[in-house]
Amino acid sequence: MKIGIIGAGNIGGNLTRRLTALGHDVSVANSRGPQTLTALAEETGATPVPVTEAARGAEVVVVTVPLKSVPDLPSGVLDGAADQVAVIDTGNYYPQRDGRIAGIEDDGLTESRWTERHLGHAVIKAFNGTYAQDILDRHRPAGAADRIALPVAGDDETAKRTVRALIDELGFDTVDAGGIDDSWRQQPDSPVYGLRAGVEGVTEALAKARPERPEAFRA
Ligand SMILES: NC(=O)c1ccc[n+]([C@@H]2O[C@H](COP(=O)([O-])OP(=O)(O)OC[C@H]3O[C@@H](n4cnc5c(N)ncnc54)[C@H](OP(=O)(O)O)[C@@H]3O)[C@@H](O)[C@H]2O)c1
Repeated sequence: MKIGIIGAGNIGGNLTRRLTALGHDVSVANSRGPQTLTALAEETGATPVPVTEAARGAEVVVVTVPLKSVPDLPSGVLDGAADQVAVIDTGNYYPQRDGRIAGIEDDGLTESRWTERHLGHAVIKAFNGTYAQDILDRHRPAGAADRIALPVAGDDETAKRTVRALIDELGFDTVDAGGIDDSWRQQPDSPVYGLRAGVEGVTEALAKARPERPEAFRA
């Protein structure tokens, strides 16, 4: 599959490592330009590109930059992607890092709905509660007793199916966590956030979530 990764940090770097290892054709971008990604490219075989080219022809695009950087992405950053592109959003709102975001705190948008509005494209929320190192260390074959599950939320059922299949290939089970308006269930400080559990444990944790934004995640 042709996959574009926007953000080459903890999550973007490790997704680049695993997706190339699985044989996918990965383009990866950061804010400073492809010349700063030569080490990652040599290690993985991924193609470093300017951010404006990351989505070109991609069937899956992963947006994995700090939330405060989403508005800095060039407009039309997803132009040129494949028609049915699935856009994965790994983001979390940390007011201490991202500054106060009124759309989330005052208007009550879920973090991914806010991101979606900036991108002008539907997203699938996945990996936001997954430790970056677990992408490398915790993948397991289907059926393994200690295989962990990740919650996946999104409104576009076709894109969600694509993303769940890709996550399965990466070595994790998935749980359908509903649409983007339900995705507060997997935001920071929710029971599922950072949880290492199988399908049953993740399903239970999603059900226990409460919609109120925790004090520690307000500015
Ligand atoms: N770390 C984790 O374990 C973890 C787990 C789950 C979810 N998340 C969430 O996933 C998101 C990314 O986290 P991370 O830890 O991977 O971040 P990170 O290590 O800080 O990396 C951020 C990446 O985004 C790039 N970037 C920033 N602004 C950009 C722009 N305008 N255009 C293109 N690229 C840009 C940075 O490029 P430069 O270096 O060139 O500036 C860098 O490669 C965050 O919302 C975070 O909360 C993180």
